[in-house]
Amino acid sequence: MATASAPGKIILFGEHAVVYGRPALAVPVTQVQAKVTAEKTGQDAGKNWADAVLVQAADIGLSSPLSRLLADSPPHPLATVIEKTLQRLGIDHPAAFQVTIRSSIPVASGLGSGAAVSVATIRALAELFERPLPAEQVNELAYEIEKLHHGTPSGIDNTVITYAKPVYFVRGQPIETFSVAQPFSLVIADTGIAAPTRESVGDLRKLWQADQSRWEAVFEQVGEIVRQARQAIESGETVRLGPLMDANQALLQQMTVSSPELDRLVLAAKTAGADGAKLSGGGRGGNMIALVQPQSAESVASALKAAGAKQTIITTIR
Ligand code: MEV
Repeated sequence: MATASAPGKIILFGEHAVVYGRPALAVPVTQVQAKVTAEKTGQDAGKNWADAVLVQAADIGLSSPLSRLLADSPPHPLATVIEKTLQRLGIDHPAAFQVTIRSSIPVASGLGSGAAVSVATIRALAELFERPLPAEQVNELAYEIEKLHHGTPSGIDNTVITYAKPVYFVRGQPIETFSVAQPFSLVIADTGIAAPTRESVGDLRKLWQADQSRWEAVFEQVGEIVRQARQAIESGETVRLGPLMDANQALLQQMTVSSPELDRLVLAAKTAGADGAKLSGGGRGGNMIALVQPQSAESVASALKAAGAKQTIITTIR
């Protein structure tokens, strides 16, 4: 039997502009995890091996042979991960096995649930078939799968989740981690609305196509915020982060990827004493993050719940 898990993630600064080559900062969120168990069942695999691969994901009420999930149109995302992983491992007719997927990461919330399930599945299968994959290859494969589901993703989600470390991410460049000189606290709050990331990325692309110089200038401002935030985090000047978050949020609003619900949560957090707040991830739903002093984390979380947040997570970035 093989087991693997992968954390959720949040983007601290730089979402969307990261698709256009600007840097972004992201960190793992270990309070939420995807866990995958894979085991050989000893059944006769028969003619079509995919009939003898059972995929179970109780969180979404799924228990089905792989063959059926592959026959869906389009194929079920979990089936695609399993199929692509077996291809990458060079296994074309595996003995019967079962994959069980559990995840406490809310779906479509900006916490990277899809990428985390992919990374944990890839690792569990690599272990089950005793063909270890280096992190770089896990990341590459998870990115390939992200591309099937999200159009033109930057690769930030799969990267931070594969390496489970704070990353300073620039599309297409080797992974760069950053250090946190002074831990800081965040409240993560979920609007409860699925973030339509593919749509918001696509809409922004249309705006960019219509006026590239305007949007390149906006993305450049985001890039500058990200560089300053990294410097502040690495030197322990966390007081500088609140205003940088607010400035990043204002630019995300210009990009049309915030929403009335996100704006309401951002305002509620600030009113309750947060030092800064912004949406995190694709936007128009999903999560927002608020920078708080540890002693006010609980009261900001309560204010966010009162303003409509479906779930809050208090986390310390270190
Ligand atoms: C989604 O988590 C982050 C975006 O920047 C899209 C991407 O980087 O692929 C909105």
